[in-house]
Parts: sequence; structure tokens; C-alpha cells
Amino acid sequence: MSHGLNLFFSVLIVFVLTQLRALVAVSNEPQVPCYFIFGDSLVDCGNNNELVTAAKANYPPYGVDFPEGVTGRFTNGLTIADIIGQLLGFVKFIPPYSTVTDQEISTGVNYGSGGAGIRDESGTELGDCVSFNRQLDNHADIISRLSLLQNNKTYTNEYVKKCIYLSNIGNDDYIDNYLMPNNYPTSHMYTTDQYAAVLLRQYSQQLTTLYNLGARKIAVFGLGVIGCTPAEIARFGTDGRPCVNSINNAVNQFNVRLKPLIHQLNNNFSDAKFTFINFTSVSAPEGDVTLPAKPCCQLRGDGQCVPNSIPCPDRDSTIFYDGFHTTELSNIAVATRAYTGLSPTDASPYDISHLAQL
Ligand SMILES: *[C@@H]1O[C@H](CO)[C@@H](O)[C@H](O)[C@H]1NC(C)=O
Ligand SMILES: *[C@@H]1O[C@H](CO)[C@@H](O)[C@H](O)[C@H]1NC(C)=O
Ligand SMILES: *[C@@H]1O[C@H](CO)[C@@H](O)[C@H](O)[C@H]1NC(C)=O
Repeated sequence: MSHGLNLFFSVLIVFVLTQLRALVAVSNEPQVPCYFIFGDSLVDCGNNNELVTAAKANYPPYGVDFPEGVTGRFTNGLTIADIIGQLLGFVKFIPPYSTVTDQEISTGVNYGSGGAGIRDESGTELGDCVSFNRQLDNHADIISRLSLLQNNKTYTNEYVKKCIYLSNIGNDDYIDNYLMPNNYPTSHMYTTDQYAAVLLRQYSQQLTTLYNLGARKIAVFGLGVIGCTPAEIARFGTDGRPCVNSINNAVNQFNVRLKPLIHQLNNNFSDAKFTFINFTSVSAPEGDVTLPAKPCCQLRGDGQCVPNSIPCPDRDSTIFYDGFHTTELSNIAVATRAYTGLSPTDASPYDISHLAQL
């Protein structure tokens, strides 16, 4: 009897240890083999550093809270894309396309570029940037490099289907295009409603291109509440309201069209899993806190930090780092909710944690 019990416990302990080891092994591995990032300054991790443009953040006080210091990230610490990468289990940050090596490409590449838009001309008043079309060209280049390295087309096709793809683009089609009537003709050509439709027609083609390059798990972020950024508030005024409502209304016309577009893409490509992340919803503060929309650093005329200026000490209770970009604190809140939806409006049809498991 006692012998039998001992045996039972030994078996149980071996079983538990095996399970534990399996768990540890799992937690050392990312949930998906690879993660590709497309978008604008909210996800850029250094692609603009060597470009001739004002839209780069490779100087202090950017990166003041980042482990490696200044990298070109437009915030004090981690970006939304970095944090989602950590939640997916990636130990290292996904490297920028501008410096990525063949050894690194199989875990993913970050193509994000400050100022970039759905339209090629967006952001060009600041200088060069890598538009979404060019980011897709760069991705085609990466896929052929990966295919050469893996030396088995079937394998590569199956491999890239398992990756998570994140797209955060369109903010600069407003900030650095439509809202600058002296630099760009779009606001003279289109009403806000027409502009949203034109942008989404192009975005739909671009997302289809991404699908044709093998992407199957694609998280598409809607636009942020651009009318609540300190830089736009300073430029346009608010008539005593907290935000520039005309901008938020224009941007909302894009968002309300984006969600059904994502569902249409899922219907048309039955083996694809596109999902809409509602930026307005995932960036909504929990509870009744309304922190003032004041930037943390001293601003240049274009809304970025003055080089080498001293950032505010209370970065753990400030929403905005510069005139447009949020602090790491805000980025953690947004990324965590995009990953694990809290409210039914956060993500549709899946949050990113479910997208990874599909
Ligand atoms: C290529 O990859 C496929 C899918 O992983 C595998 O079944 C096949 O055996 C591989 N072919 C060669 C020649 O290694
Ligand atoms: C989906 O397919 C329909 C019918 O072929 C087409 O009219 C529509 O443009 C497609 N939409 C997308 C987003 O691919
Ligand atoms: C996004 O979420 C907000 C709630 O925070 C909701 O009012 C809005 O309708 C949602 N937008 C879309 C396009 O689903």
C-alpha cells in the first residue's frame, strides 16, 4: 500500500515536472515565429535615422527611458509595436528594415517610418519618408531574401502565414497632408468624407498586396484621436473644448469605414484573418481620469522635442511625450488593450492574443 502510494506520488511528481518544463519551454518561445511591423512614427524604430527629413527622433530627449537610449523611436521608451512584441513573447526588439541583417529577418522586420502615409506624398513637407507603398516593396524584398535563405518555397510560404503583421498607418495622411492646406491640395479636392473613401480604396489595395505577399494574420490599427494631440490643439484651437472636434470628426469618417473594410477582406480572402483595432477605444483612459494633454518635452515648431531639452520628470503620469507622440506609459496601456481586449469595441473580430492563436 505504502509502496503503491510512493509510486503514485513519484509518477505524479515526474508528471508535474514534465508539465512545468513544457510550460517553461513554451514561455521561452514567442507565440508566433515572426512579427512584421508597418506604419508611421508610432511604430518607427529607427528607419528614418539616415533619411533627410525633420521627422526623425534619433536625438535626446527621445529614448530617455529606453534600455539602449536614443534609437529613433518617437517616445521616451517603448513603442506600441515593441510592447506588442513583448506580449507575443519576443525577447528581442524587431529590428528596423534600414539595418536588418539576413540573420535577423526570419523573426520579423519593422518597416515603420515617421511621416509615412497611405498616400506617397504624405509627410514629404518634412523631407523623405518611407511611404506604405515603399514599405510593401521593402517587404517583398525581405520575403525574397527569406525565401533564398530557407531554400524551400513551400516552407517559406507556410512559414510567413504564421507571422503576425501589424499595420498602423493613415495618421499622417491627415496630420502631414489633409490638415496642411498650404502644402497639399487634398483638402481643396475632397470633402472629409470623400477623402476617407479615397484613402480606404488605396489602403484596401495595399492590404491586398500584403496578403498576396503571404500575410494571413493582420492587425490593422484605426487612427488615433488626432484632434486631441497638443500640436493640433495649439495649431487650430478648440473654442474652449478639450479637443479639435473638426479633426476628430474627419478622422472618425476614416475609422467607421475601416472596420467594415476589414470584415470585407476577411470575407473575400477566406484563409486570412484581418482584425480591426479601434484606437479610440484602446486609448480611452480607464475610469474618470482626464490627464491634461500637455507635452512632456519642450516643443519645436513642428511639434517634436527640442534637441537635448530636459523632459518632464513625471513621465509616468503624462500622456504625451511631444506634440504628437505618446509616452511609454500611454503606449503600454494601448498595446495591452490591443493585445487583450477589455471592451467589445476594442478589437473586431479578434484581439491580438486571439489572432496569434488562430
Ligand atoms: C520543403 O518544405 C516542405 C514544408 O515544410 C516539406 O514538406 C518538404 O519536405 C521540404 N522539401 C525539401 C526538399 O526539403
Ligand atoms: C470583395 O469582393 C467583392 C466582390 O468581388 C469586390 O467588389 C470588393 O471590392 C472586394 N473587397 C475587398 C476589400 O477586397
Ligand atoms: C471605437 O470605440 C468607441 C468606443 O470607445 C466607439 O464609440 C466607436 O464607435 C468605435 N469605432 C468603431 C469604428 O468601431
